[in-house]
Amino acid sequence: MASITIRRLDEAAKRHLRLRAARHGRSMEDEARIILSSAAAADGALGPSTQQAPPDSVPRPSPLPREDHSAGVREDRSARADSRVLLIVGGGIAAYKSLDLIRRLRERGILVRCILTRAAQEFITALSAGALSGERAYTDLFDPAVELDVGHIRLAREADLIVVAPATADLMAKMAAGSADDLASAVMLARDCRVLLAPAMNPSMWAHPATRRNLATLTDDGVILIGPNAGEMAEAREAGIGRMAEPHEIVAAALTLLASAGRDNALAGRRVVVTSGPTREPIDPVRYIANRSSGKQGHAIAAAAAALGAEVILVSGPATLPDPTGVTTVKVETARDMLAAVTRALPADVAVFAAAVADWRVEEPNANKIKKTQRGPPKLGLIENPDILATVAHMTRGRPRLVIGFAAETERMVEHAKAKLARKGCDWILANDVSADSGVMGGDINTVHLVTAEGVESWPPQSKEEVARALVERIADALVGMRA
Ligand code: C5P
Repeated sequence: MASITIRRLDEAAKRHLRLRAARHGRSMEDEARIILSSAAAADGALGPSTQQAPPDSVPRPSPLPREDHSAGVREDRSARADSRVLLIVGGGIAAYKSLDLIRRLRERGILVRCILTRAAQEFITALSAGALSGERAYTDLFDPAVELDVGHIRLAREADLIVVAPATADLMAKMAAGSADDLASAVMLARDCRVLLAPAMNPSMWAHPATRRNLATLTDDGVILIGPNAGEMAEAREAGIGRMAEPHEIVAAALTLLASAGRDNALAGRRVVVTSGPTREPIDPVRYIANRSSGKQGHAIAAAAAALGAEVILVSGPATLPDPTGVTTVKVETARDMLAAVTRALPADVAVFAAAVADWRVEEPNANKIKKTQRGPPKLGLIENPDILATVAHMTRGRPRLVIGFAAETERMVEHAKAKLARKGCDWILANDVSADSGVMGGDINTVHLVTAEGVESWPPQSKEEVARALVERIADALVGMRA
């Protein structure tokens, strides 16, 4: 299918799309995709399973508070359109990506101010950063124009979030030491907002004990980390951990932080356990049964709960995602390991089971690699895995106050989710369509229905980060109304 070409739309349509996208905190492409899927749903093109009940037949779920979601229209919880990000660009080859980052933030209606360190100006110019952000880019600590006009203290104070991308080893060292001999470091010392750091450096520099020490100091100071990712370096034939997180990943993290500004402590003092990713059930030492789950939704929920101040334990099956910042991640392979890790992580106020746990495992995995023989393929005897969600939901002592499951369905989603809610004994189920053409498995967009004992709410298609934010805010609200 041809991709959407926004450039070919007429100006009025483009302007409308830009405004809608900014209002919802999405890119114009994502907004266009969402408009098209809603239109398809309205025409019945997505089949009966995705059609929603008529608005007035949907009862209002009772412990779920405040907003009326019954018409399927959810309040926009994304960053305010006038949120202000101060982007500090360090001097590394990844600086070219920060230009794309400015563009993506601006597309979401976020105001971006840039500071370029002296080294950054070896890679990009203040002119290009200024042109993309729509405001002059700042470079000097003692710039009479800046001091008269904005001043480094105001630069720091007027930001809702500071993003440092790329954060070089040198910038991190300066920040950790609290030095203030240039504009970037002086602003960092004067700030009172949160800082999102996207390190980028050679893997040896990242692994160096000095960088590890600086990183420990910075995380102790409350700085939030995104990346670095593993991959190839700009230097020929070098690979390892040190690539800057991709601009879209930085934007997602920035939106989560901006959206939770003001609600930073809504889950403070709460303990949340989240399962995520697939499980791997061994057949022999080299083969296993698994599934296509990426862990994106579960990891996003863990990150969003931590952003609201919760103590989060993420029990994750094998996923290729970085561990979310501010979260204790416990890595497991099999369903039985996952159950054991969840049990160890309890007691908790809330447990969210987003993992795609394998329903069956091989009864007797072979100790050695199974050989091909003339007798044909081996017969694999399968037995059922423990149901982690049902086990925790049915606990008579120490049950979390809120137990939430997912129902990944390919047909009759809501009907199956309601049955699952009763069968598993959980409080809420998020039902989502994982049929091959939904693109949910491994994709970035999710369309969920929140099913409770009282009713069903259908949320519009949105990114997995937005689903996570909406869910944890719901959790925070619901806990307020529940007895300990
Ligand atoms: O039964 P089904 O796999 O569709 O249920 C999905 C929900 O149950 C998800 O929340 C999943 O994390 C959880 N689950 C579990 N342990 C299993 C199977 C599913 O926790 N063995």
